[in-house]
Parts: sequence; C-alpha cells; structure tokens
Amino acid sequence: MSPTSQTTPASVPPSVFTLPHTAQLEALYTIIRDKTTSRGDFLFYSDRIIRLLVEEGLNHLPVVPKTVETPTGATYEGVGFEGHICGVSILRAGEAMEAGLREVCRSVRIGKILIQRDEETALPKLFYAKLPQDIAHRYVLLLDPMLATGGSAMKAVEVLMEHGVPEDRIIFINLISSPEGLKSFCTKYPALRVITGWIDEGLNEKAYIVPGLGDFGERRYCE
Ligand code: URA
Repeated sequence: MSPTSQTTPASVPPSVFTLPHTAQLEALYTIIRDKTTSRGDFLFYSDRIIRLLVEEGLNHLPVVPKTVETPTGATYEGVGFEGHICGVSILRAGEAMEAGLREVCRSVRIGKILIQRDEETALPKLFYAKLPQDIAHRYVLLLDPMLATGGSAMKAVEVLMEHGVPEDRIIFINLISSPEGLKSFCTKYPALRVITGWIDEGLNEKAYIVPGLGDFGERRYCE
C-alpha cells in the first residue's frame, strides 16, 4: 500500500472526520507507533499531529461574514469566528493535548474530567470534573488521544451534556480510534463530530488499539 492510499472505510459513521492520509502524516504516525522511539521524539511528533487535529477541529466551527479593510485601502470580504469555545481534556492522557490547543487558540479556557473504572461495577465512573462555568454556551473540543472501547469518552460526553452542552456542540478530537469504539460512540452520539487522525484495525484482548502505539500516557510521561 502506498503511504497515501488509505481511504476512509464505508463503515465509518458520517460524523467521523479523519485527517488526509498524506505521506507526511503517515511518517509522523510511523514515528510515534515505533516502540524504539525515544520519549523526546514521541513528545515532539505527537505534538505535531495534535496540532493538525486541533486545526481540523476548528474547521468544524461556524463562521459569519466579516469585512475588513487591508493596508492597501481595499476591502476584503472574509469571515470571522462565531461563538466561544473551550477545551475539555479527559485525564490523564488528554492533558497532553492541551498545549496543542493553547498554541492555536490563545487564552482558551480548558476544563478537565477524570474518569476511571469503577472496581465494583467495571463501568467508567466520574471521579472529578472542573469545567468552565459558562460551558453550556460554548463549543467544546473534547480531548483524549486514544478512542479504544469508547467508555471514558461516552462518560465524558454524558457529563458535558449534564452541564448543558448540546451534543452537536461537542467535537471529540483523538489521534487513533478503534472501529469498535467509533461504532459505539457514534451510535450513542450521532450528532457529535469526531476528528481522528487514524482509524486502526481493532482492539486486542486487553482493550489496547492495534497496531496502535501502546499506552499513550506511558509513552508520553514515562521514560
Ligand atoms: N489507551 C492507550 O493509551 N492505548 C490504547 O491502545 C488504548 C487506550
């Protein structure tokens, strides 16, 4: 297969948007998937992908017509951003995507949600949420690098919706998705857009994405 030949499978839900699979993007993914990649390189190259993903996420926000005057004295009929945004990271791996969002959206507000497995029920449980007070009036870029089973992401969306954020104002951004996770997530939240860099083959018996990149948090935070 040539580096640019992967196409989005027909089974992918219509609310899912992948980055264009250019040779450049595939080279970035090859580096971060490689188990011999150093932590420094993992940080650098995953940050490059995160930035591309955030830019793509912003493409899904509404704009309104806006006319400006240029230094030549001419007018330019363009567009301006409409509406406010915020980021919400799913701890801990999602925190790694915050800097990429801040680079593109200066002084953006960022909330945090901590979800962990409830040892009694084995279901995802909310442990902590700190969200902007006016989140119900914002578009939310939800950040989590790996969409595996989708359990944490679905719980996070539930929390956002309980705080008044409409489903169609949430844009979920991740680096790698499993087809299983996408199916469950998009079936439950069809109006929510998902921006993913790559859709992998599936999940293994430990619910890791394959081929994947291993544990994103370990690769990013531990030497
Ligand atoms: N989280 C990770 O970090 N990696 C996976 O493969 C799945 C979930």
